[in-house]
Amino acid sequence: MNIVLSGIKPTGVPTLGNYLGALKNFVKLQNEMTDYEFFMFVADMHAITIPEDPKTLRTNIKNLAAIYLASGLDKDRLTLFLQSEVHEHLELGYIMQSITYMGELERMTQYKDKVAKQVTGVTSALFTYPALMAADILLYDAKYVPVGEDQKQHLEITRDLGNRFNNRFGNTFQIPEALVTKVGAKIMDLQDPTKKMSKSGDPLDKGCIYLLEPLNIIKKKIKSAVTDSETRVYYDKEKKPGISNLMTIYSVITGLNYDEIEKKYEGKGYGDFKGDLAEIVATEIGGLQERFNAIINSKELDEILDQGRERAEILARKKMLKVYHKVGLGRF
Ligand code: TYM
Repeated sequence: MNIVLSGIKPTGVPTLGNYLGALKNFVKLQNEMTDYEFFMFVADMHAITIPEDPKTLRTNIKNLAAIYLASGLDKDRLTLFLQSEVHEHLELGYIMQSITYMGELERMTQYKDKVAKQVTGVTSALFTYPALMAADILLYDAKYVPVGEDQKQHLEITRDLGNRFNNRFGNTFQIPEALVTKVGAKIMDLQDPTKKMSKSGDPLDKGCIYLLEPLNIIKKKIKSAVTDSETRVYYDKEKKPGISNLMTIYSVITGLNYDEIEKKYEGKGYGDFKGDLAEIVATEIGGLQERFNAIINSKELDEILDQGRERAEILARKKMLKVYHKVGLGRF
């Protein structure tokens, strides 16, 4: 059976960007692609590429696992697991490093951005991150990898590494394809709509909505989102990045396209639009939070993660035996 696979890093609480660009899309794809197996994992090894407090990390890991389920994924057709519990990710990550060139890693824009922000203390794990991400995907012969726009470059290097390995050692890996949604692949910061919405670690950050924060705060953040001085609601990403970003959020949640939203708000101002959007987002996230609360302390969460690990391990072990054999490692 073909596999659709994706992961999210448990750094901080996931954002509305993660939800609209990734989680909501996973749910939609799972409903549509009924003859595919869905593998979703908590990319916890990726979270320690930057310093993380152990207690906080453990909480974030558990929260993220519960958020996957609360987002509406069907647990009966899902292999949900923690990356750190399937050791083969690291084994294949190392093999991938051995065929990755420094120059390729130096070109990664996410790495360059992070280095630019964090002048000292950049770790070698942050640098080699894309090799581990390639391993996450190739290990299971994933056919499709749904991700947001910012991960496209990492998918490209994954394809390059898969092809390089296949050419050098013989056909071993399926070459995956990125699945990027048309609308919602890049949700922007509410206070600075020219930059991506991402976790700053600061809950008071008005530009970023966190999935587990109180609904009244979420509404406030939407209502105080930066927009331009016009009042007519229409989509123009270049000239009106603020309102366009809010329209994207509206569109992904309601399913209405930009023209339909424009029509709906003809003759009304930004105030009406933002007020409605605040309610729409709060209802959507409120539902997720309710499901989250029902799952987070249940035994079922652990059981699902155990089953997920067992299923993932079977495929991962088989693949690694093949890889070691092809590379010439060990005694076989
Ligand atoms: P991460 O944890 O940064 O983000 C998880 C997913 O959320 C998407 N995303 C967004 N989409 C729209 N708008 C935004 N503002 C926004 N912010 C984040 C990301 O594109 C991503 O799909 N390296 C990955 C995790 C990973 C992975 C993998 C993913 C590790 N191994 C293998 C797929 C397959 C990451 O850091 O994503």
